[in-house]
Amino acid sequence: MRLTGPLRAVVVLLLVGLSWLLGNTFFGGENNSIRSFFGGASEQPTSVEARPRQYKCGLSAPCPPKHLAFRVVSGAANVIGPKICLEDKMLISSVKDNVGRGLNIALANGVTGELLETKTFDMWAGDVSDLLKFLRPLHEGTLVFVASFDDPATKLNDEARKLFEELGSTAVKELAFRDSWVFVGAKGIENKSPFEQRMKNSKTSNKYEGWPESLEMDGCVPLRPPLET
Ligand SMILES: *[C@@H]1O[C@H](CO)[C@@H](O)[C@H](O)[C@H]1NC(C)=O
Repeated sequence: MRLTGPLRAVVVLLLVGLSWLLGNTFFGGENNSIRSFFGGASEQPTSVEARPRQYKCGLSAPCPPKHLAFRVVSGAANVIGPKICLEDKMLISSVKDNVGRGLNIALANGVTGELLETKTFDMWAGDVSDLLKFLRPLHEGTLVFVASFDDPATKLNDEARKLFEELGSTAVKELAFRDSWVFVGAKGIENKSPFEQRMKNSKTSNKYEGWPESLEMDGCVPLRPPLET
């Protein structure tokens, strides 16, 4: 009988904890959305169809001389990883196991086309200073290939957006939570890059539950002439 008091307290505490957990899952939780509980992408994203691969990176026509062939594909929801192909070499892909949530970036030398580095930056839970440290010291002419995966924008701050603008991006200004984004730019570019697409995350037009459709962009990016000495 003397246990009734403490026991009751324990039971009440357990019940409170349980309803907190349930409430959290249904009405909020990490992403403040009932949707995320009912399972992210309800329609399984389909992979990009195989196409006749006649030219580098699957382009439908060959690139002119002193151009690099590329294909950049953003991730599909948080399920299928992004891809970056340059001169027929897959630089970033799920198969290579070097994709990550956020921004997937490959750098290439703007004169030789040689691959310099690939890296991913988690823009949902990561630290934006890693991205800033990566973008600030880029050399004039460096080519920058970007593919989003899941969420490219939550942690972006003004400086990060400005650094992408300096590479020729226009869409980065407005880039938001779970948008799809593919972009090719270069440090010191004079005009806006012609190689950019953004798909807004919008409940009414999303292809997947919670995410817009994946974007795919290919083309030929010009190399710079070597500097005269
Ligand atoms: C919350 O959203 C982020 C970004 O889209 C996603 O990566 C993460 O898995 C989500 N978390 C939950 C619990 O749904």
